[in-house]
Amino acid sequence: MHRNLTTTFLAAGLALTLSGAGIAGPREDQLAQYASAAKAANPTFSGFSADRGKTLHTQAFAGGKPDTPACTTCHGKDPRAPGRNLTGKAIEPVAVSSAPSRYTDPAKVEKWFKRNCTEVMGRECSAQEKGDWLSFVASQ
Ligand code: HEC
Repeated sequence: MHRNLTTTFLAAGLALTLSGAGIAGPREDQLAQYASAAKAANPTFSGFSADRGKTLHTQAFAGGKPDTPACTTCHGKDPRAPGRNLTGKAIEPVAVSSAPSRYTDPAKVEKWFKRNCTEVMGRECSAQEKGDWLSFVASQ
């Protein structure tokens, strides 16, 4: 009984958090999918964190390619400013406030998470990490 109640509150809280992010669209749908996957992987998962996403974005990892230790290597330290890839080509800012059309194509989001997480961390990002990172850039 107690367990069921906790689960219900948790689900309600999650739905509120997600709907609070704005009008439902592809970005919100993808976040909801990452939330289900994160919950399946870790039953104590209680929502995404923009703070954890910021840490993921700025942290230097040792497991990936030496010339791309962090997301900021290409996307820059300021999420509202353009980034630059290794050949110097400009990359649109990652902050949703600066680039409102970002993260509206789920296949594009998945493709780049896979490629960039592998380059930076030497592994794919978990569903929780993807949701945290998207929460961070959506809050910027
Ligand atoms: C080697 C340079 C590089 C690094 C390092 C890098 N990215 Fe990217 N990222 C790109 C490029 C280039 C694109 C595609 C162009 C664009 O979307 O503007 C991109 C696009 C993305 C997208 C898709 C954006 C969209 O509009 O759908 C996501 C998500 C993303 N990156 C996340 C990350 C994360 C998380 C990290 C760190 C783990 C990271 N990137 C590190 C270069 C990089």
